[in-house]
Amino acid sequence: MLPHVRWLHTFAGRLRAWAVVAAVPALGSLLAWPAAAAQAPDRPTSQLEALAAQGKQVYDRYCVGCHGEKGDGKGPGARLLVVKPRDFTQGVFKFRSTPSGTLPTDEDLYKIITRGVYRTSMPDWALVPERDRLAVIQYIKTFYPEWKAQRPGKSIFIPEPPDTLASPESIARGKELYILLECTACHGETGKGDGPSAAKLDPDVWGNKQKPFDFTGGRLKSGPSPKDVYRTFMTGVGGTAMPSYADIFGEPDGENIKEGDAWNLVSFVLSLRTTSFRADKTAATGAPVKGTPR
Ligand code: HEC
Ligand code: HEC
Repeated sequence: MLPHVRWLHTFAGRLRAWAVVAAVPALGSLLAWPAAAAQAPDRPTSQLEALAAQGKQVYDRYCVGCHGEKGDGKGPGARLLVVKPRDFTQGVFKFRSTPSGTLPTDEDLYKIITRGVYRTSMPDWALVPERDRLAVIQYIKTFYPEWKAQRPGKSIFIPEPPDTLASPESIARGKELYILLECTACHGETGKGDGPSAAKLDPDVWGNKQKPFDFTGGRLKSGPSPKDVYRTFMTGVGGTAMPSYADIFGEPDGENIKEGDAWNLVSFVLSLRTTSFRADKTAATGAPVKGTPR
């Protein structure tokens, strides 16, 4: 169990249920978007409302301790956490397949709830029955009433990674891009998240201190595979300083940015992981490996 999860477990008995779930190794590889869920938007409103009502029970049991009764991220456990639980009332989400500034799809929420957010206290909920996970999604949307009118963005297309992924040439080109696009300003030359702008970043939209990701420490928060890294460049991390590079990579100018460069940057970013993390081969297969730190 993660040390901070264990700590909470001891001190807040009411949070016990989720901490037990969190202790079970991630079942990320079993992630499959169920057919029933894909049809959710077409369901009659009454059905969605019934699902949301069931979702409230799930929420009150597993989520309220961190995300709070009002969904504002201020549950009793939040005070103890360095990375604060998401405030659902603003309709801003970090991890999406949808373009910057748009709402996530139900599938995005399902994935993050099932997998958890690596390297934070957000547990994975793979052992909560699927129907309950689907129900809680409908409930957390009710904290942001505009959701109904706005609807989610359209998921970006993520192609299959090329065979050259992780090759020495691809990594070298990725390094050039990393410098050219000034990722160094925030993430630092060594990728530790200690670039010159890192300490000067304003708080994120929820008013919390933000910290550029440390690439040397292992998996991304939002998933382990090269496609997750690619998705991050293309959609940004909502509410934070991490921008979307969709404009730059979507229409390469052929001079500074060439076709396929997004994958070269993926190669480089993954190469920054220290040896022990690289040994898990997630870069090659994208599959989460038993025992990899979250
Ligand atoms: C131990 C505290 C904790 C519990 C319990 C918890 N979460 Fe979280 N959750 C977090 C934290 C912390 C984050 C923020 C991670 C970040 O910002 O990087 C988060 C993030 C999320 C996100 C991602 C939001 C985004 O911006 O992309 C969703 C969705 C979510 N939680 C849903 C749930 C649901 C549903 C439950 C209950 C089944 C739950 N959480 C239980 C701590 C918790
Ligand atoms: C202005 C500062 C800034 C710049 C420039 C920047 N980032 Fe980020 N990046 C961040 C912050 C802050 C986060 C952490 C977001 C969070 O998890 O709260 C982040 C997170 C990430 C993540 C991890 C997402 C996850 O799921 O954990 C990746 C990958 C990433 N950045 C890649 C890049 C690359 C590649 C570039 C250059 C093309 C870049 N960033 C430029 C600030 C920046």
